[in-house]
Amino acid sequence: MSAVTQAGLENVVVAQSSRSSVDGDNGRLIYAGYRIQDLARNATFEEVAYLLWNGELPTGEALDRLDQELRAVREVPPGVLDVIRQLPTDAHPMAALRTAVSALGTLDPDAELAAEDSVARRRVALRLVAQMPTLIASIEHIRRGEALVPPRSDLTHAGNFLYMLSGKEPGPAATRAIDAYLVLLADHGFNASTFSARVTAATMADPYSAVTSAIGTLKGPLHGGANQRVMEMLEQIPDPEAAEGWVLDRLANKERIMGIGHRVYKTIDPRAAILREMSEAQAAEGDSTYHDIAARIADVVVAYFEANRPDLRLYPNVDFYSAAVLHAAGVPTDQFTPLFAMSRVAGWTAHLLEQYADNRLIRPRGQYVGPADRDWLPIEERAPAS
Ligand code: CMC
Repeated sequence: MSAVTQAGLENVVVAQSSRSSVDGDNGRLIYAGYRIQDLARNATFEEVAYLLWNGELPTGEALDRLDQELRAVREVPPGVLDVIRQLPTDAHPMAALRTAVSALGTLDPDAELAAEDSVARRRVALRLVAQMPTLIASIEHIRRGEALVPPRSDLTHAGNFLYMLSGKEPGPAATRAIDAYLVLLADHGFNASTFSARVTAATMADPYSAVTSAIGTLKGPLHGGANQRVMEMLEQIPDPEAAEGWVLDRLANKERIMGIGHRVYKTIDPRAAILREMSEAQAAEGDSTYHDIAARIADVVVAYFEANRPDLRLYPNVDFYSAAVLHAAGVPTDQFTPLFAMSRVAGWTAHLLEQYADNRLIRPRGQYVGPADRDWLPIEERAPAS
């Protein structure tokens, strides 16, 4: 069979999926057929997790059942908290989360059954989604040397997360902002971390191994790590008036502007448009500095590329306005990417259910470009590498 070479697997279809679809030319995203705009406006994260796992929106009764099941398993085993306590307090929270999820897998009796057993794998999916907020909040308190805040079962997924993070019952606006954020990032086709999860699952390894792979992949600044970098950029710019000069200097130096550009979207990312509105609404209620700086950067970058490199079609992506939204909701900057993971774990687990149910090993080829047919050289005849 002849091989196809495609660097970065751009536009290569590796499998079929009925979870979500990204139309990059028209800026459309759907989860199981439902438009992201409708989901962000109307759905809770719990409803979206159900949709991604089952392909249908839940009835009221099914949603109540799922909600109760999630609330019942929010606590994480003490052994995992002990593992987190062993980590350096200056470890990046994404590194700590990656280790914590891996440790969680060693303590779940369903872990080793889940690749083969569809009932066990649904229980694992539920625990992974329910426990991710507890892990993130625990990592935050442990590194600060503070007492842990145990989960509450009378709050929603988003509300309980904010409660565990701050120790205070959150207001409705912050809870709604986090819930909408979780809905918006829950799935996105064969993005790098989802692909990574599927590659691991396709070897029939357990779901914790797959989600650990996914967290490692999400961590990079070209993927989920961009949201933290965007916030760090906003913090470097003193005010909206300084944004234009700051950005044009970076572009003149051929530097990348974080939160801009996408492998698939060649127009505005629909999630970025929704997050911009959310950020605007938060700015109207409180301090608008970061929103104003972000909006100015976006306008300058888009105008710059439209004028100078229209072929690139670079626009703000989901991570761009996430930064101001998460900051306004009180999330520490280096916990932005873990929050992305807290949302995307719904999509990762949905893809795992799909992968295990109809598996084929994912094993591409590489194009070898090294020397061929060399004769063996005894060690005393070898020259030092130049
Ligand atoms: N700022 C400036 N120039 C850019 C940027 C940017 N953010 N993104 C792409 N370019 C330029 C790049 O320099 C290249 O130019 P040239 O053709 O002159 O060499 C051209 O656009 C194509 O770039 P590429 O890296 O080949 O494109 P890609 O499809 O591999 O990259 C990307 C996609 C997201 C990695 C890239 O746009 C990027 O690095 N963006 C900044 C990081 C970021 O925001 N990542 C989050 C991605 S979306 C959400 C997520 O996955 O978490």
